Amino acid sequence: MQIEKTVVGVKAQVRAWKKEGLSVGLVPTMGYLHEGHKSLIERAVKENDKVVVSVFVNPTQFGPTEDLESYPRDLNADRILCEEAGAALIFAPEASEMYAENFTTYVNTSGVTAELCGKSRPIHFRGVCTVVNKLFNIATPDRAYFGEKDAQQLAVIRRMVRDLNMNVEIVGCPIIRETDGLAKSSRNTYLSPEERQAALVLSRAIKVGKAMVQSGEKDGEKVLDEMKRIISQEPLARIDYVEMVKWDTIEIHHRVDGPILVAIAVFIGKTRLIDNFIQE
Ligand code: PAJ
Repeated sequence: MQIEKTVVGVKAQVRAWKKEGLSVGLVPTMGYLHEGHKSLIERAVKENDKVVVSVFVNPTQFGPTEDLESYPRDLNADRILCEEAGAALIFAPEASEMYAENFTTYVNTSGVTAELCGKSRPIHFRGVCTVVNKLFNIATPDRAYFGEKDAQQLAVIRRMVRDLNMNVEIVGCPIIRETDGLAKSSRNTYLSPEERQAALVLSRAIKVGKAMVQSGEKDGEKVLDEMKRIISQEPLARIDYVEMVKWDTIEIHHRVDGPILVAIAVFIGKTRLIDNFIQE
C-alpha cells in the first residue's frame, strides 16, 4: 500500500489505474481511524478494483472555537488499518498541499445545511463540501463512501453531487457502534471514563426513539420529547439539538409520514457527540 502526500502523486497513480481499466473507490476521512471507517473501506474494497483513503484533518470545516488543534492524529496506526482493510493508497496531504495561501473558492450548499449541524456549526458544511469536491477532483473516484453516522453530511454530499453533475456514485454505509451502543467516533478519545459512561445516553435515547417510531408512533413531538427527557436525566449531558427532519431535504418535520431522520447532538462535558436513526 502506498502513502502519497502530494496531489500530483495521487493524480498520476489514479491515471495509471484508469488506463488499465480499473475502477476506483474513495473513502474520505480525517484519520484516527476506527471500525466505523474500516467498514467503509472494506465496502469500497468489495466494490472497486482500487481504493484510495484520504486522511486529512480539514481546517476549513472547523470553527474558530472548535477542536482543529487537538483533533487526534496517528498516521502510523491509520496505515495499518488501511492495509488490513485492503486499501491501495492513502492520500495524507499537509494543509498547505490542499490550500494555497490565497485560496478563495468554496462550495456552498443551502437548504440542506440550514438545520442540525449546519445551524450549530455555520461554516462546517462549506468546508466539508469544498474539501470533498477537491478530493473528488484529485482522485476522480467511480464511487465514494460516507457513513450514516454523519447523516446530514451524507445528504449534503448527495445534494452537491446531484446539483453540480459530479461523476461519482455516493454510497451510504450504516453506523458502527461499540458493544455498549456508543457510536464509534474519533472524538470518543476525548472522554474521561466518567464521561464515556455518560455518553451512553445518546445511543439510549436513539434506541428508545427508534423503537417508538417502529412501533407506529407518528407524532414527532412525542418521540423528541421522550428522547429529550432521557438525555436530560444525565447530569454531564447538555443538548445541542434533538430533531426530526425529512430524510434527504433535512427540513424540520415532526410527523412520521415518509422517510425521516432523527438526529441528536449532545455535549458530554466539552465533547460534542452526534448520533441518529433513519426511518426510510
Ligand atoms: P471523519 O469524521 O473521519 O469520518 C469519515 C467517514 O467515516 C464519514 O463518512 C463518517 O460518516 C464515517 N464514520 C465515522 N464514524 C462512523 C461510524 N461509527 N460508523 C459508520 N461510519 C462512520 O466525516 C469526516 O471525517 C469529514 O467531514 C470528511 C468527510 C472526511 C471531510 O473532511
